[in-house]
Amino acid sequence: MSGTLTRDFVETVRSAVDIARVVSEYVPLKPAGARLKGLCPFHQEKTPSFHVDPERKLFFCFGCQTGGDLFKFVMLYEQVEFPEAVRILAERNGIPIPKAGSDGSRETDLKTRILESNKAAREYYRGMLSAPAGSGARKYLESRDLSAETLETLSVGYAPDGWDHLRNHLTGKQFAPSELVQAGLASPRKDGSGEYDRFRNRIIFPIQDLYGKTIAFGGRAIPPVEEREPKYLNSPETPAYVKGEHLYGLNLAREAIRREGYAIVVEGYMDLAALIQAGFLQGVASLGTAFTQAQARLLGRYTRRVVVSYDGDAAGSKAAVRSLDLLLEQGFEVRLVDLPEGMDPDDVIRRNGPDAYSALVRQAPEYIEWMVNRESRGRTMGTAREKIEAVNSVLPHIARMNNPIERVSWTGRLADALGIDDDLVLQELRAALKEARPDIRQRVHKEVAPEMRQVERRLLALMLASHDIRMKMLESDHEVELEGSKISGIVEVILSLEESGQPVDYPAVLEALERLARLDDQRILTQLAFDDEPTGGMEEADACLKTMRRERLVRERKDVQDAIRKTQDRSTLDALLLQQMQLARQIDTLT
Ligand code: UTP
Ligand code: MN
Repeated sequence: MSGTLTRDFVETVRSAVDIARVVSEYVPLKPAGARLKGLCPFHQEKTPSFHVDPERKLFFCFGCQTGGDLFKFVMLYEQVEFPEAVRILAERNGIPIPKAGSDGSRETDLKTRILESNKAAREYYRGMLSAPAGSGARKYLESRDLSAETLETLSVGYAPDGWDHLRNHLTGKQFAPSELVQAGLASPRKDGSGEYDRFRNRIIFPIQDLYGKTIAFGGRAIPPVEEREPKYLNSPETPAYVKGEHLYGLNLAREAIRREGYAIVVEGYMDLAALIQAGFLQGVASLGTAFTQAQARLLGRYTRRVVVSYDGDAAGSKAAVRSLDLLLEQGFEVRLVDLPEGMDPDDVIRRNGPDAYSALVRQAPEYIEWMVNRESRGRTMGTAREKIEAVNSVLPHIARMNNPIERVSWTGRLADALGIDDDLVLQELRAALKEARPDIRQRVHKEVAPEMRQVERRLLALMLASHDIRMKMLESDHEVELEGSKISGIVEVILSLEESGQPVDYPAVLEALERLARLDDQRILTQLAFDDEPTGGMEEADACLKTMRRERLVRERKDVQDAIRKTQDRSTLDALLLQQMQLARQIDTLT
């Protein structure tokens, strides 16, 4: 379609579309003066630094410096090229797109045709469920306790038994057989004598994208199921459907997810249907155990809190664990519903009722806690060796959390849960968590040369602990003392938070450093978070500052003395000697 994307058309879209409305479909925004702000979707943050200027039609994140116009936003968010972004915006806002010329993108046209044939197929299948041919399917769905309303919500249909019902129906509606093949609705016969329907005698679950477009189908076999028939048959990948990039039911759930503040992730079509019917509208299905990066990103548009509700056995499987780690990595809070052995959410809801399920969701332990429970179950934890083993099996998962504060807080919980009071194990554990290291025995003994000297360490700790000390620092000429010090960057951030009236604690300072991309400073501060609480007060802070100032002056004097030794020039020497004398006097007053 690039040939038809004239500048005029692009400008038409730009002027017709409200950037604030577009962005707020993805990111909750709040008014902030003439602008709006919210949490940046392009990097992780806890305090909003993402701004939208409706008047200038621009967005900008002060945290990650990402910015641009509304097309840029859609390109980044939907991971599409410019023409596609324009098309998406035009389509969603009812702006007619000029017909593609001969040089138009075939891919886009093909995708449009696939979506059209899917829509027609969905309507056909839907109708078949209430037709006489659908009586077996209806009976089966009834046996699974699914109400007409739930079936309607999910647009559940029925693909009748036979080789060419859908094919004949759709070719009668101006769809070419080749288009049905491309849509994955039919397959060519091996002998070249035409095409046959992909879905036969199956209950059909249409898979929709966020905008309600049917992009694929899943078909469940109706019992009795033949041995070699798969229970579920899904559409193949097509230009309209890339596996692992969608979440089943998200188009229905996204509002409820925002409202409830979390999403429930289940595995299967039937689980989602049961959830919806029981009133859990914040559910989505991953359709298989492995949750992909793309799915995490997609879900992350709506929430960072996930309750994973896979079958008892599936939750502990390798694929599930990998996908849960992926969620942790992306900064999600992950909880795991403990379902009774061998039951899936649909079973629990139907056998024990929605309230029982709701209780399980409420009690869902955090993922790491769940792992710790599982580890301690099979072990007596009598020996340090057993404890180290247990720690090592949980540690890789904690190490994946990208928030150092959270990693830290799990230290204590892990130690408690495993009954670790052994100092050595605890020390190793802390060290590993500090460094996000996945194993506690690989620790190489590091030389003790601390990155921060003791005075700097104390000063930072005191500043973090006391509002008064921060105020005093703000009033004084602190830059002088801190010149050239390792902590000057952190002090600056602490004081600017204080100055702007924001809370000053480890998470806030770390967050600010994160926004400034000051990795070293983040590390220094994280390290400090492990130290014991300071007991000193203003006097000690003064003393620290004085020491630092003195040390700086001594360093300076040494430089001057070096210069004195090297210089040949008489007048330079005079100036240096004078400087040396002044420094000596200043140093004296500080001793
Ligand atoms: P399950 O086997 O747990 O099925 O597979 P289910 O969803 O509980 O369905 P019922 O209750 O037996 O009817 C979970 C999901 O894995 C995918 C489907 O998305 C299914 O919903 N799956 C399973 C397939 O794609 N193909 C299969 O053959 C089986
Ligand atoms: Mn099931």
